Amino acid sequence: MMRRPLIAGNWKMNTNRAEAVALAEGVAKGSGEIKNADLLVCPPAIYLESVGKALTGSSVALGAQNMYAKGNGAFTGETSAAMLSDVGAEFVILGHSERRALMGETDAVVNEKTLAALAAGLTPIVCVGELLEEREAGKTGEVIATQFAGSLAGLSAEQLGKIVIAYEPVWAIGTGKVASPEQAEEVHADLRRLLTESYNGEIADKVRILYGGSVKPSNAAELMSQPNVDGALVGGASLKAEDFLGIAAAI
Ligand code: 13P
Repeated sequence: MMRRPLIAGNWKMNTNRAEAVALAEGVAKGSGEIKNADLLVCPPAIYLESVGKALTGSSVALGAQNMYAKGNGAFTGETSAAMLSDVGAEFVILGHSERRALMGETDAVVNEKTLAALAAGLTPIVCVGELLEEREAGKTGEVIATQFAGSLAGLSAEQLGKIVIAYEPVWAIGTGKVASPEQAEEVHADLRRLLTESYNGEIADKVRILYGGSVKPSNAAELMSQPNVDGALVGGASLKAEDFLGIAAAI
């Protein structure tokens, strides 16, 4: 497989500074043992710089959980892509379901952010995923296709080749109810087909598609063995270095 797996930790709004640094040090320390995957941690924005320092000398990459699409200006409380890059972030999670649900982020907003992140040299991890009622109504494919088209509108093939996609079924996030490997693979294969149809096979083969939602060391191997699952976006289990590294070691 030409795609190198990526195991990304989304710490969400957790840790204080000391805990964030200790967690990053733990991940950095164990990262030498991980041969088959790239590692990424995404702490709260306020701790990016401290965590970046704790990761110095390791191969663990640093990412943010959100950004604003505009450059400098009168946008009180917001953080730009250039600011994230300035403190060492290389990745940014965009359109996470919690932001879509709680902060009202639409596909259009996610699209604007994706383009701005790319323009600033950040790698966007663009999240898509269906609600339980959408899955039960047989609408998963339709929902994913709409989010894909809306969130990634206007990207050139070159830009598309630089992004990461995360499939996170909303019903699997923080619930302990992981998607079965078959359920994940079905959507991932669908996303790969959308990439091929909208762009071309060469680009589609390059893009990493991560699965997120209740990933743990005990279920990671089976999920990661699916042909179109190229890594994981991990929430709860990324808050313990041992569990996060255990997921990466399962590949
Ligand atoms: P959990 O791993 O806690 O289910 O969270 C998944 C997630 O939302 C990662 O972005």
